[in-house]
Amino acid sequence: MRGRAVVAAAMLALAGSLTFAPSLAAGSGGPIVAARQDSMKEMAAAAKAIAEMFDGKRAYDAAGFRAAAEVLRARTGRAMIAEFPDGTLGEPSGAKTEIDQARLEFESLARHVGDLADALATKAHNAPAKITADMRMGAGLPMNGGSLLGKRPKVAEAEPAKMPAEHLLHLILQDCSSCHAKFRQKVK
Ligand code: HEC
Repeated sequence: MRGRAVVAAAMLALAGSLTFAPSLAAGSGGPIVAARQDSMKEMAAAAKAIAEMFDGKRAYDAAGFRAAAEVLRARTGRAMIAEFPDGTLGEPSGAKTEIDQARLEFESLARHVGDLADALATKAHNAPAKITADMRMGAGLPMNGGSLLGKRPKVAEAEPAKMPAEHLLHLILQDCSSCHAKFRQKVK
């Protein structure tokens, strides 16, 4: 059940972010800021779609799963890093100026979530017509104290390619939250 709570909390945080986002006057941070905010929103919608398929709140379909996973893959890693150039940080954007002082950490988070999204998209590419047990949280894992959950990304992890899809989604959502906690600010 802990896994479900993690996803629920992450989805709640994302829902909150979607509600405060529109208060930003359109384009007030320039086209680069607007573009990355769109990317982030697309990722939130994609992550939500996958989470709901696994939770049975939305009909699972392999093509929809694949498309959503591809959005996550395309918007993370190098692409994500490129969306935060110098001179676009700080108000009115929700990106903290701290990103500039901690580039290595920021970029390693973006790459980490990118590796996970990569693994998820590869799995989604071969996804069966119905969700199978081996796609589920906990499949093939020694559930001995949840060392893979609730910890920072640096914690030793199994190879992403060997993790079930649902587990990868949880880890992705944790990276979203970790980065937001440190590098994102609320703006009015
Ligand atoms: C490496 C850091 C990092 C990662 C990883 C990250 N984000 Fe973000 N996210 C940010 C920053 C910084 C902002 C603020 C951007 C701005 O306003 O310029 C943001 C903003 C957002 C927003 C608000 C966009 C808006 O309209 O203002 C949403 C929604 C969002 N992220 C979702 C996600 C999701 C979903 C994931 C994971 C799949 C994710 N983010 C991963 C750093 C990150």
